Amino acid sequence: MSALEKLYEGKAKILYKGPKPGTLIQYFKDDATAFNAQKKGTFANKGLLNNYISEVIMGYLEKIGIPTHLIERIDDRQQLIRQVEIIPLEIIVRNIAAGSICTRLGLTEGDPLPRPLIEFCYKEDALNDPLIAEEHIVTFGWATEDELATIFELTQRINDFLCGLFAAIGIQLVDFKLEYGRREQDGDIHVILADEISPDNCRLWDIKTGEKMDKDRFRRDLGGETEAYTEVARRLGITIATENT
Ligand code: TMP
Ligand code: ASP
Repeated sequence: MSALEKLYEGKAKILYKGPKPGTLIQYFKDDATAFNAQKKGTFANKGLLNNYISEVIMGYLEKIGIPTHLIERIDDRQQLIRQVEIIPLEIIVRNIAAGSICTRLGLTEGDPLPRPLIEFCYKEDALNDPLIAEEHIVTFGWATEDELATIFELTQRINDFLCGLFAAIGIQLVDFKLEYGRREQDGDIHVILADEISPDNCRLWDIKTGEKMDKDRFRRDLGGETEAYTEVARRLGITIATENT
């Protein structure tokens, strides 16, 4: 195969030009960062595990009618995806208090929230992805009112579904981050789910033991990252034969 044309390299993934117009190849790296890349590291098989986990989760979401960018997983490290214009928002859903909301609002980690909470951050590394209000989004034109309504609706459905999916495998979905993109189809612009859904952008706690099974193991120097991600994959029914890339 001829060398792929690199279009963009992010902290955890690389995007290459895809084989057909309107497609990209998303490559999952083993690099891990936290606190806007102030902390950097790498752990074995992270990219591979996130690739498989995100494939399975996005596959389930497609089945319940959530449009996603995933076309297919190509190999251990790569996915063929639909090209989108990324909406510059990080949509955070919280079911239980953890992470930044605890410091920001003085909550105790582990406290259930009265109802699922959706927060927005402006996706701009140079500004440290600041928390913003809905008003900012429309005022600055980052998304239209209609797009925002779609984002709310899809995000609530994704949270309902994922809470059930993880509960069924003994995992509490504490919080997670989503990104959406715009895609033109038949002359209309559609909002579809982009990026990835994996232990990198979810907080996942074992229901029985409370053990953290996500990137907080790296953020908080707890160790055992590969083992935790592997266990999430195993419970999702993923069997990975070899690392061949
Ligand atoms: P937070 O508690 O640090 O705000 O994180 C909330 C959720 O969003 C958590 O599941 C981790 C995820 N997240 C990302 O995926 N990327 C990020 O850059 C940040 C800050 C959080
Ligand atoms: N992805 C983020 C970063 O390094 C942080 C995080 O996931 O905590 O910038």
